Amino acid sequence: MLQEIYDLLKWGPTSANSSPARFVFVRTAEGKAKLKEALSPGNIEKTMSAPVTAIVATDPAFHDRLPLLYPRAPDARDWFAANPALAEDTAVRNATLQGGYLILAVRALGLDAGPMSGFDRARVDELFLAGTGWRSNFLVNIGYADRAGAAAAAPLPPRDPRLSFDEACRLE
Ligand SMILES: Cc1cc2nc3c(=O)[nH]c(=O)nc-3n(C[C@H](O)[C@H](O)[C@H](O)COP(=O)(O)O)c2cc1C
Repeated sequence: MLQEIYDLLKWGPTSANSSPARFVFVRTAEGKAKLKEALSPGNIEKTMSAPVTAIVATDPAFHDRLPLLYPRAPDARDWFAANPALAEDTAVRNATLQGGYLILAVRALGLDAGPMSGFDRARVDELFLAGTGWRSNFLVNIGYADRAGAAAAAPLPPRDPRLSFDEACRLE
């Protein structure tokens, strides 16, 4: 299923097809134990009980793959190599988008996705990403939520409200 999730999310668009996100799927008991020490207290229980936690990371050297990913512009690597600010902006925007595509892909396949930014990024980078140059952005718990079990313990709260169209959108 992780392969299926990736094969769906990879089709989401990124600028110059840069595809700067990288994903570490933490599945094993050892991996979960390592992750636990970097989590905010409120995120520990759900992360320990999820079958998989994805570390959504960013590869700041994403442009090295542009000869493969964006062959229509043979000099695309140099646009970013010569402009670190553009490279950083592009990496952050597109890797975060790809994290969103991951959430949508997970849900489209009938699974539940629980994104989290409550964790120590530097610690996760040290524990899971050493030697790669990648940087963690956020985490996503993946699995089937135990709604019946949760509802038996305490009534499930409704979804949080959202801003209305008029509050969040303008027509020009
Ligand atoms: C980037 C991101 C980070 C989040 N971080 C956390 C987190 O650390 N812990 C948590 O319990 N929920 C976290 N959430 C979940 C949000 O709080 C939740 O999606 C929001 O309150 C809406 O809830 P609903 O979709 O159930 O209505 C995060 C969501 C996103 C997209």
